[in-house]
Formats: sequence, structure tokens, C-alpha cells
Amino acid sequence: MNSPIEIRPLAPFGVEIAGVNLSDELDDARFRAIETALDVHGLVVIHGQTLAPERQIAFARRFGELEVHVRQEYALPGHPEIHLISNVKDGERSIGSAYAGDNWHTDLCFQRRPARMSLLHGIEIPQADDGTPLGDTLFLNTADAYDRLPDAMKRRLEGLRAVHQYHRAQEIKRRQREKDHARATLSAEQRALTPDVTHPVVRRHPVTGRKCLYVNQTYSFGIEGWPEEEAEPLLASLFAHIVQEPHVHRHRWRVGDVVMWDNCLTQHKAVGDYALPQRRLMHRTAVNGTVPV
Ligand code: OGA
Ligand code: MN
Repeated sequence: MNSPIEIRPLAPFGVEIAGVNLSDELDDARFRAIETALDVHGLVVIHGQTLAPERQIAFARRFGELEVHVRQEYALPGHPEIHLISNVKDGERSIGSAYAGDNWHTDLCFQRRPARMSLLHGIEIPQADDGTPLGDTLFLNTADAYDRLPDAMKRRLEGLRAVHQYHRAQEIKRRQREKDHARATLSAEQRALTPDVTHPVVRRHPVTGRKCLYVNQTYSFGIEGWPEEEAEPLLASLFAHIVQEPHVHRHRWRVGDVVMWDNCLTQHKAVGDYALPQRRLMHRTAVNGTVPV
């Protein structure tokens, strides 16, 4: 119960935490240790958890108010706060968002108050014939990426705001997966809930104050007040700068993993290297954050 918690670094960033059972009610000191690790390192991995939906919700809620995802068609029945990421089908219909996040992004950046953190719990992990896990998730650190920018670029980005568009990203995704995992076009109500938003291109981490690059290839389609032909090359150069292989952490999933990430300090990408009958099922909860500044 109260064994000491162990925090070990991952490469090139993030930490793995051992000695916690998230099904138990964690005391404040242990919860704070996890929360601080998340604020500072951006990525926390905890193996070997068996978290019932109620326990996952209760644990995630300690970080803040839970997001109820706009695509309720992919909620775990009876649990609107748990969003299914899955390629598993019930008849023709995918039970969850299939191949969600398979390009670099940060969660819910298209909202006025994007997610502070996301928690993904691995329930079913696809495997190759030789048992190698498939469907890894990749992570990178946006504050380190900012720090690596040349000073002239840091000055150029001051005061700029990027435009984030959920409906546009969803339309791209819908067309990509039309044949194997058809998803509905957004309903009028879902579209009304996801207007375009702008956020600073460089935002400060709400706890540590570190400057983080806050544009991504999935949702960021422009710079406020700039013509598209000028915004596009700047964004493309930032994306190329942010996504550099040596700085990427690769999470190889095991059943029972809990992976949490900070959506200001990191970006992530799902690797879609599996297909039915290889099944992938993840339970995801997201915690609302603050308006980026
Ligand atoms: C997410 C996400 C990545 C994955 O849940 O937000 O992008 O590997 N998931 O499923
Ligand atoms: Mn995501």
C-alpha cells in the first residue's frame, strides 16, 4: 500500500513510475509526486495496472475536470468521460475512434481550453505474428524543441497566434479511413461545438512557466492575420524542427499500461502498423486545462 514510489527516467525524456497501484486511493503525497512528474517531464508511464473505468475516472479527476469528448459515439457505454481508441468493430461500425492521432498532435488544441493531460490505458494491444507489440505511441517534448530554436526564430514567433481547426482535421481523417473505418461527418451540433480557435504559437507551461511550441501538423492550419501562402512555409519549418527522430520517445505498449502526457509540454503520434484481426483497444480520459497564454 504505502511502498515508496520509484521514478526512473525514460529516454530521451519522460519518466516511468513504479510502486503505485492506481486502483487504490492514493494519498496526497503520492498523487503529488505523479502530478509533479507530469508537469516537469511531460510523460509518465506506469505499467501493470488493472483500472476499472470508475477507477480510471476517479484517478484522472484528481488532475481536474474531465473532458466529455465531442464524439460521444466513441464513448464507453455508460461512461461519457471514457473515450475509446480502437479499431475493434461491432458489425460494420468501429466501436472507438480508429487510428486516432496517427499524425503528430496535441490533444484538444482545437478547443479554447485544451486538455491539460490525457491518460491512455492499454486494454488490448495488437501483436505481430512473432509476439512483437504493434501500435506504439511516439512522444516529443515541445519545450526542448522551443529551446533548440535559433534566437532569430524565437523573436519572429513572438506574439504570433496559430489557427486550430478540428473539423478540417476530421475531414482529412474521414477521407483517409473511408474504406476500412468509416467515421461520420460531424453533426451540425458537433460542428457548432468546435469552432476554429487561435492560440499563441509559443505558450508558457501553466505550472513551470517553460515556453513550449504549440503548433502541430494535425490541427494547426494557419497563422492569425497571415495569408495562407506565408503561414504555410513557417508552419512547415516549425513542424520539421519539432519532429526530429533523436528527440522522440517510443512507447511500446503492454496490456495494463497507463500512459499520461501533458498536452502543453509534449506532442504525440500513434503508429498505425496493425490491422484487424489484430485488435487495439484503449480507454482514454482527458483532463481540461487552462486557456493557453
Ligand atoms: C490519444 C491518442 C494515441 C494512441 O488518445 O489522444 O492520440 O497511440 N492516442 O492511441
Ligand atoms: Mn492524441
